[in-house]
Amino acid sequence: MKIKTLLSVFLLIAIGFIISSLRLTSSISSLSSDEMSIKRGEKIVMNYCALCHGGEDGKLSGKMMDDIPKFVGTIHTSNITNNIEKGIGKYTKDQLRTLFRTRIKADGKKANMLMPIFPLMADEDINGIIDFLKSDRFAVQSSEATYPPQKLKWIGRTFDKKVKIGTMPDKPISLPDTSNKILWGKYMVTAVYRCYECHSGEMIPDDYNPTVSKKYLQGGHTMYDMERKKVKVRNITPDLKTGIGLWTEDDFYKLINTGVRKNGKNVRSL
Ligand code: HEC
Ligand code: HEC
Repeated sequence: MKIKTLLSVFLLIAIGFIISSLRLTSSISSLSSDEMSIKRGEKIVMNYCALCHGGEDGKLSGKMMDDIPKFVGTIHTSNITNNIEKGIGKYTKDQLRTLFRTRIKADGKKANMLMPIFPLMADEDINGIIDFLKSDRFAVQSSEATYPPQKLKWIGRTFDKKVKIGTMPDKPISLPDTSNKILWGKYMVTAVYRCYECHSGEMIPDDYNPTVSKKYLQGGHTMYDMERKKVKVRNITPDLKTGIGLWTEDDFYKLINTGVRKNGKNVRSL
């Protein structure tokens, strides 16, 4: 059963989303703290959440996830613009916080398995995301987009049941030391952009302890690219033979900025 591929086929992730986020926002320090928080959130939302929530009108108005195999169901992402009825205008900041930590929506129901949670993300980033969603930026301005009800078939429901709701953190979560590149990178990989979700061997990874995932960052899953051709998720550990141990920082930036891998080949988009 190909359910393993589920978490990928629909995640139209071109690797580019990591780009700017790995470089921290030192240039915005002259802004007010509200503006800084919005900028912080904007970066994460537009580089990551938008891959799923980006709609035809150029806003975060949601879309049908057409890549999901029909045997799984017919699923759409939510309109997360400020529209009161059709978007998330009614969500309070606390309700958004609860959703991002636990997957529980404002209506009390669990968001389906496609909506990720962020249990390790620092409060500052969660708050930034919320401030951005509540801002007047174009991407979140009211959109009327609506979609037919979510319809999961048996296989989809079975998978969805295995994806549990999370718990609220019992203490504040602070950012790692941003001057420590290793800690910062780990934070990006495990807490913000969830690289382990594809690059490890678990079907449903433990979002609370990603580093103990089976084959953590060693690759494993076979996914499908945009042309529905099989593509193996790569080993991105420092292993010299099978991983990216020989890559320089420039090689990595080249991949992120141009999509060209160290071996000169283009990375395939999912
Ligand atoms: C892999 C695709 C995917 C990604 C990435 C993703 N979402 Fe979602 N999101 C969904 C789906 C699918 C739903 C609908 C869940 C449902 O209706 O049960 C959803 C629901 C939501 C909702 C609930 C709205 C409602 O209808 O109550 C909000 C808010 C939201 N997402 C915000 C975000 C934010 C912010 C991010 C990034 C930090 C994000 N999502 C990343 C797929 C995604
Ligand atoms: C949606 C799944 C998915 C996510 C999330 C993801 N990747 Fe990947 N990644 C892939 C796939 C699939 C490939 C292989 C593409 C190919 O071979 O053309 C890949 C390739 C790579 C490569 C190239 C390795 C090589 O040997 O050429 C690097 C480096 C990489 N990813 C790093 C990351 C980082 C860092 C993150 C998180 C910031 C991340 N990826 C998130 C699926 C993903």
